[in-house]
Amino acid sequence: MKSIKVGILGLGTVGGGTANVLQRNADEISRRAGRNIEVIMASVRDLARPRLCDCSSLTLTTDPFEVVNNPDVDIVVELIGGETLAKELMLLAIDNGKHVVTANKALIALHGNEIFAAAQEQGVSVLFESAVAGGISIIKSIREGLAGNRIELVAGIINGTGNFILTEMRDKGRPFEDVLAEAQALGYAEADPTFDVEGIDAAHKLTILASIAFGIPLQFDKVYTEGITDLSLTDVDYAEQLGYRIKHLGVAKASKDGIEMRVHPTLIPAKRLIANVDGVMNAVMVRGDAVGNTLHYGAGAGAEPTASAVVADIVDVARTITADPHNRVPHLAFQPDALIDLPV
Ligand code: NDP
Ligand code: HSE
Repeated sequence: MKSIKVGILGLGTVGGGTANVLQRNADEISRRAGRNIEVIMASVRDLARPRLCDCSSLTLTTDPFEVVNNPDVDIVVELIGGETLAKELMLLAIDNGKHVVTANKALIALHGNEIFAAAQEQGVSVLFESAVAGGISIIKSIREGLAGNRIELVAGIINGTGNFILTEMRDKGRPFEDVLAEAQALGYAEADPTFDVEGIDAAHKLTILASIAFGIPLQFDKVYTEGITDLSLTDVDYAEQLGYRIKHLGVAKASKDGIEMRVHPTLIPAKRLIANVDGVMNAVMVRGDAVGNTLHYGAGAGAEPTASAVVADIVDVARTITADPHNRVPHLAFQPDALIDLPV
């Protein structure tokens, strides 16, 4: 059977990790997908930059449009980041009838409504599991595992960089800027790290989670957003002495008045499970009316944990391509015409 051909936009931390996981676990992945998955092409900015992955078997280009316009590519994986170019490439890919997988939470949170409408019209899949909480399958858990529930609350630590900084400040008394520089070197931080420390990245992710959990349109501008830049070592220390931990949380909550969305530092009693989620780990609590409380935990950033979720989406798309074309239903986390207009 013909292999499924993938083109990757961006071979940085996540792109390099994705190419590696696809190569290393090719046997397991092809068994699960029902077909071989082959990365045939990738675009980068700088051809001379050393890569995390072995790129010898694929065509590298500095022109991302070559990937999106390549008629052999079935699935475009967008791992460039940012809004402008990524949006143009994604809409073009959809227009060209390609399925799209992305880790770009900023793009989905800000332009997802338009992107999903375009994908629905073209009958292609757009998946973005890796955009929220790295390797934790929180989107699939809410959409699939908790599909029978009325969701009441989604709350958790959804920025790995911020949690890494707060943990190192508390455990080792390290200065904020020093830990942030390490998070950047480890590939956890966004290209613009103010997104991490000012709460913007968490607000992007909360926008997506709230939309999936409550069936509302993506509304980033409605999230109350506060970061961790005003916290000092003294604050972190005092919290500890009083039996609390400071965690940066994203909270989306249903009430009789609508949906509340907020991200901000929070004092949590030190004995609570979520207070003990440290370093780059993320944890998301989801409360459903049938299931009660559930807690989802795992690495929130980094090359291979994020790649794990990107590859899972590629496998999901591959399964829809492999299915009988008459019964094929494209994967869209959102059905744009089924969203409800609750006050936020
Ligand atoms: P990197 O900066 O490590 O990689 C970006 C890649 O895109 C690089 O290969 C770069 O090329 C290429 N690129 C950037 N700008 C352009 C451009 N204008 N034209 C062509 N190519 C370009 O980013 P990450 O891998 O960390 O992040 C990628 C996406 O994944 C972002 O949306 C991010 O938010 C998201 N994400 C990241 C996570 C992480 O842990 N890092 C976790 C979850 C999501 P070159 O290498 O030549 O510079
Ligand atoms: N910069 C993000 C974080 C990457 O630290 O959580 C994962 O989305």
